[in-house]
Amino acid sequence: MSIHFDEGSGQFHLRAGRCSYVMQLLKGRWLIHRYIGPALAGEVLAQPMTWAGRPSFSANPLPDDGQLSTDTVPQEFPWYGSTDLRQPAVEVLAPSGASTLDLRYAEYRILAGKPRLTGLPATYVEQDHEAQTLEIDLVDALIGLRVTLSFTAWVEHSVIARSVRVYNEGDQSLRLRRLLSLSVDLPDDQYDYVQLAGTWARERHVQRGRLSSGEHRLESRRGASSHALNPYLALVRPETTETAGEALGVTLVYSGNFMISADVDPYRTTRLLVGMNPFDFEWLLQPGERFQAPEALLAFSAEGLTGLSQTWHRLLRTRLARGAHRDRLRPVLINNWEATYFSFDRDTLVELARSAAELGISLFVLDDGWFGHRDNDRSSLGDWRVDPRKLPGGLDDLAQEIKRAGMQMGLWFEPEMISPDSDLYRAHPDWCLHVEGRGRSQARNQLILDFSRADVRAAITQMLREVLHSAPIAYVKWDMNRNMTEIGSASLPPERQRETAHRYMLGLYEVLEQVTSEFPEILFESCSGGGGRFDAGMLHYMPQTWTSDDTDAIARLAIQFGTSMVYPASAMGAHVSAVPNHQVHRVTPLATRALVAMMGNFGYELDVRRLTAADRAEIRTQIELYKEIQPLILAGDLYRLWTPESGQRTAWMYVSGDQREAVVTVVQVLAEPNPPVQYLRLRGLDPQREYELTLVQTDDKGYLQTPALLYRAHGDELQGSGLEVPQLAGDFRGALWRLRGV
Ligand code: DGJ
Repeated sequence: MSIHFDEGSGQFHLRAGRCSYVMQLLKGRWLIHRYIGPALAGEVLAQPMTWAGRPSFSANPLPDDGQLSTDTVPQEFPWYGSTDLRQPAVEVLAPSGASTLDLRYAEYRILAGKPRLTGLPATYVEQDHEAQTLEIDLVDALIGLRVTLSFTAWVEHSVIARSVRVYNEGDQSLRLRRLLSLSVDLPDDQYDYVQLAGTWARERHVQRGRLSSGEHRLESRRGASSHALNPYLALVRPETTETAGEALGVTLVYSGNFMISADVDPYRTTRLLVGMNPFDFEWLLQPGERFQAPEALLAFSAEGLTGLSQTWHRLLRTRLARGAHRDRLRPVLINNWEATYFSFDRDTLVELARSAAELGISLFVLDDGWFGHRDNDRSSLGDWRVDPRKLPGGLDDLAQEIKRAGMQMGLWFEPEMISPDSDLYRAHPDWCLHVEGRGRSQARNQLILDFSRADVRAAITQMLREVLHSAPIAYVKWDMNRNMTEIGSASLPPERQRETAHRYMLGLYEVLEQVTSEFPEILFESCSGGGGRFDAGMLHYMPQTWTSDDTDAIARLAIQFGTSMVYPASAMGAHVSAVPNHQVHRVTPLATRALVAMMGNFGYELDVRRLTAADRAEIRTQIELYKEIQPLILAGDLYRLWTPESGQRTAWMYVSGDQREAVVTVVQVLAEPNPPVQYLRLRGLDPQREYELTLVQTDDKGYLQTPALLYRAHGDELQGSGLEVPQLAGDFRGALWRLRGV
């Protein structure tokens, strides 16, 4: 059993994978946090709960116990207005106008499996024995508020899924001002934070620093999880490294405004809070209504950052992502964006597709510019009808031609957006997010459709449906290229305006659910100017995301390493593009661009027609190699060996689940004069197994050399003394080894 309740002590013990999580009822009334860490053998903690008496500045809720204050005991779900003066997880305005709550423990239930979260993305079980769920009800009798805390403990994964729903059981309306999904008070402050920060074209760079007194807060107020701070935070012990030590990570399965906070109090405990951002949020809860907060996930590993990442990868890949493509090998694609931008016609596309098909590429993706009269980014979003000037025969004619070339066709959309220069906007100027009487700020010349409105959602879904039925489309890139401003909805009354941003997300999820289930064979890739919405919410509907608009191989090292902290390779789109690179103007060898792009869902984004015969032969070799190692990359265990910040060489490897196969890659940034011999110590291999090694290096022309059979060595030697890295004479060179168990 993953969840056990001990009547005598009032302890709830959740075992998730190799982790234990213990809570306890205090005086039958408060839910207190007791433990998170490596799995415990015993069912109950033997040590009694104790707390130190504190000065009068921490008030006492019980008149006969001057020692006890909820301000200083570790809580599971704190509220505002009584004796805990730290940050609350919930804040509700009562009919009286006061925000004082008194939530008392009422009852608990242990359920097999994991109930679905209505209307929101979430992890799931395929069979009930995979997990158990504990629900705990807290009730405020005065205002009739019931709060149900939900904790799912997985048998196989060291992850606890948490969510919260509230019910208004009273007879007057309540105003919900904050409802976080996860709150836990950790007993000390000896933590480093590890977070993923950046901006457009340089997303998710790893940052690490020490927690200290006060709040360390990550958040988004942008109406999307955003490029700036990924909804992810790890708290690791100062001594934790990539390979060892305790690490705890949290993420929110949500794509809109979020907050993640690690708040160190004067007694050096750390309150960890995760949920929808309370900033500019309020929800009117009428009698009888309920509100469901998104799911937060908490993962634990005692095996360092690698262990934590592998825990995330397994769960997100197999029990968050869904659909026909979840476990399938993804097609090697070519996208025309960096090859043509907006200027193309049917013949150009067909030539590109034919040329790509000859190289072994199997999916041709037509990006932005195929609809309305969109010759640049100033028009047509919302007019999802093919542009007859560019494609006189329509999409079907193009798709058939592409099919004849031996490829499938994919298509770009930006369904949540509207251009002021569009027929849709001229017909429905109130369909965008806006605040009456205020300006409508444009970004990339576009506004955002009000997906909180059912009529808007229905119209857009219908347009998508018609396009997707009009031609054999095998793939959709779902883009979103701006953040929210002037957030208001013409369809909501004044007292509900602050619900708009969350209602938008619920509306988006409804559309995604509908479209992905109506077209189950289509492979959907999420995108938001690259990785502006790379989050667990979108991953539930679309198994892959375009990682970044920066396609430079060297810049991608940091972006992909950061992304890999949480998200599996099967979620990352990675393409080989032209040089000089369009974002940073760097020139890197074609082979190195491929070695880096092979860290995820591999593809090309350049004009393959203009390549030399030698470049084309190289691409054929790259695709053959990728196809051979693809199962290992998409479903194997990732080990980050040398991180981009640790020096001029970055290295990583994937090991198959049965440890029979591995692939190791090294990429050098700048070459060093007269360099030392470097040995790369491998990880994750079977120490007793003998492996046969082959090496592919980049050559002076920038191509992959013919694979060289090296030698046979046991896993223990490769892990103990390491693999000698060749000299790699030149900047931006790389090497790849394949290890096959004999
Ligand atoms: C932003 C995406 O990230 C790009 O890949 C491309 O699809 C453009 N949008 C098209 O406008």
